[in-house]
Amino acid sequence: MTSNTALHFFLLVLALTHFSHAGTIAIYWGQNGFEGNLTEACETRTYDYINMAFLNQFGGGQTPELNLAGHYDPPSGTCVIFGDQIKECQELGIKVLLSLGGSAGNCTLVSQDDARSVADYFWVEEHLPRLFIRSPQFPYPDYYIGNAVATGLFDNVWVQFYNNPPCQYSSGNVSNLISSWNEWTSKAIAGNISLGLPAAEEAAPSGGYIPADNLISDVLPVINDSSKYGGVMLRNRYYDRLSGYGASIKPYVLREKKLVYSS
Ligand SMILES: *[C@@H]1O[C@H](CO)[C@@H](O)[C@H](O)[C@H]1NC(C)=O
Ligand SMILES: *[C@@H]1O[C@H](CO)[C@@H](O)[C@H](O)[C@H]1NC(C)=O
Ligand SMILES: *[C@@H]1O[C@H](CO)[C@@H](O)[C@H](O)[C@H]1NC(C)=O
Ligand SMILES: *[C@@H]1O[C@H](CO)[C@@H](O)[C@H](O)[C@H]1NC(C)=O
Ligand SMILES: *[C@@H]1O[C@H](CO)[C@@H](O)[C@H](O)[C@H]1NC(C)=O
Repeated sequence: MTSNTALHFFLLVLALTHFSHAGTIAIYWGQNGFEGNLTEACETRTYDYINMAFLNQFGGGQTPELNLAGHYDPPSGTCVIFGDQIKECQELGIKVLLSLGGSAGNCTLVSQDDARSVADYFWVEEHLPRLFIRSPQFPYPDYYIGNAVATGLFDNVWVQFYNNPPCQYSSGNVSNLISSWNEWTSKAIAGNISLGLPAAEEAAPSGGYIPADNLISDVLPVINDSSKYGGVMLRNRYYDRLSGYGASIKPYVLREKKLVYSS
């Protein structure tokens, strides 16, 4: 082919290859009184999403209740202080989401009307101080029930690849992790799927911790190939504050993802 045709071909390929910034870090915050406050977490600039955990009671006619473990006592109304901290985080471009559920929660949605009334609760002005949020974002369900993800209603899905041996990294062996990741990315209908990991070995009693070097060399380069790759989710701020895991992997998580359109 002439050099002109070669140039033309090259330009065409360029036009079909689109780089989009991808790869975010999400962190759970709220279940350990010794993990520092929200402002401190946001000022590290390590995280793109903070999942405040948990709205542990809702549905079935129950009054929605937030549980922030050792931080503050939501029923007493003292959690209003987090309203300003949420705003500060938002000003840094960080999205603060409310995590619904938690393993010890009593959450039950008995009908569509029940779900609607829980959602409506957040829009009632006088309920907000009780729930701490003065600058609310719409509560965002981040937990997975059965085939919820197959509804296609979720923009971001954070999947836990730890405390779950058939789906996790083990002593240098990535095969279970990668096959589980492949299954999620092929089946889940979602814009972004993130790899949920422990931020320290102690954060996952049933395993799945991946040393940062191994994550960077053996895992991220494989999973970042998926167009649904959304980054990493970490459990949790308490462990990450001690380990610095998030900061050490951040440059590698952030790598641009390449979307190649074939028309
Ligand atoms: C949040 O934590 C930081 C660091 O420990 C502290 O300096 C700051 O005063 C705290 N902010 C609030 C509102 O408590
Ligand atoms: C959980 O909520 C339901 C109402 O939806 C209530 O009947 C039940 O007693 C609650 N369970 C606990 C352990 O609080
Ligand atoms: C890695 O784990 C898979 C699944 O458990 C197993 O089949 C495979 O033999 C392991 N590979 C190595 C090198 O141990
Ligand atoms: C996926 O996440 C990126 C940020 O990394 C965001 O720009 C994009 O809108 C998300 N995609 C969807 C479909 O939500
Ligand atoms: C995935 O990561 C590898 C190395 O870590 C990098 O060379 C590659 O460009 C990345 N792929 C995409 C699609 O960003």
